[in-house]
Amino acid sequence: MKILVTGGAGFIGSNFIRFMLGEHPGAFVTNVDSLTYAGNLENLASIEKDPRYRFVKADIADPDAMDGLLSEGFDTLVNFAAESHVDRSIESAREFIRTNITGTQTLLDSARARSVGLFVQISTDEVYGSLPPGEAFREDTALHPNSPYAASKTAADLLVLAAVHTHGLNAFVTRCSNNYGPYQFPEKLIPLFISNALEGKELPVYGDGLQVRDWLHVDDHSRAIDLLIREGRKGEVYNIGTWQTGAADRTNIEIAKLLLRCLDRPESLLRYVTDRPGHDRRYAMDYSKIAREFGWKPLISLEDGLRSTVRWYVENRSWWEKVKSGEYQEYYRRHYGSRL
Ligand code: NAD
Ligand code: TYD
Repeated sequence: MKILVTGGAGFIGSNFIRFMLGEHPGAFVTNVDSLTYAGNLENLASIEKDPRYRFVKADIADPDAMDGLLSEGFDTLVNFAAESHVDRSIESAREFIRTNITGTQTLLDSARARSVGLFVQISTDEVYGSLPPGEAFREDTALHPNSPYAASKTAADLLVLAAVHTHGLNAFVTRCSNNYGPYQFPEKLIPLFISNALEGKELPVYGDGLQVRDWLHVDDHSRAIDLLIREGRKGEVYNIGTWQTGAADRTNIEIAKLLLRCLDRPESLLRYVTDRPGHDRRYAMDYSKIAREFGWKPLISLEDGLRSTVRWYVENRSWWEKVKSGEYQEYYRRHYGSRL
């Protein structure tokens, strides 16, 4: 199985690479990543010497680079590469358009020209917009992206589905809820709050803190993608998440308090700050399609997942300290410098 992973130096892509090499002795993974601020090769230190793994530094929006790479022939391309942080997209949408939209189309063009076996587009629940209490997103829920990030991911999803319809490309789209776990860049809620608490800094809670996200452990996400590579059907969309009828919503403030309890830090660290503009109130993913068709369900409960995640950030303080200080960007030069 020859797999091309884009954005594999990021949080979910690196988890997926470690997962695939661990699960499948016959997997060969090429990781193509341009190493933006979110790319950190240290996330892959545990497998970087594995002969079944290779790193290529390139931009998915560079047609020549993608065409050259894809001409090597791949069974599967999994597109994780993206600008992924909503707050940054509010500051400036430019890179979101370039990577998430132009980059995805560039990959689609090369995948078609170079006959890639399967194209998997990794997308998000944010394409559906915001939900009232009690409801959940289904695959046929109308698309209603509210942030520039979500709008760019929606455009990418539609380009993938258009390539299936128009050109017959073998592709499908996965839409997952909020992920958490080890190696997540500490600009996102959970790693930011854990690391701030460990540093004795305040935890900035946007608005009233009553927004709701559907939190999935990243290991459950990687397992779903692996399953879908084998079972998923051309032209389909698959929701991945944890919501079930009657499930209790978890507000951001509840998550923050849970983390503080796990860390034995005081709630006085919570600080309510100005809300994010256009902040989506609530997400919840109905995952009954992937459950019914292929038997997938989340295996890691939020309580267990948060506890083990907190432990990881406590035990791997140097990882996030290097990220917060910017030192992580030296990793590529130090480890790959001789090959430059
Ligand atoms: P991330 O920001 O941690 O990683 C993104 C990676 O893409 C980085 O390594 C970065 O260097 C790379 N990249 C960015 N632009 C590139 C370009 N032009 N060319 C090549 N590489 C480039 O993101 P993540 O949280 O790991 O998310 C991965 C994917 O999953 C994204 O497509 C995101 O939309 C989607 N997703 C994320 C979540 C979540 O909760 N984090 C939930 C659902 C879906
Ligand atoms: P985030 O991790 O940025 O993911 P997304 O916006 O893609 O869902 O944020 C998760 C939730 O936490 C979201 O409702 C915004 C909120 N949030 C805060 O309250 N404070 C913060 O510092 C951050 C980063 C997020």
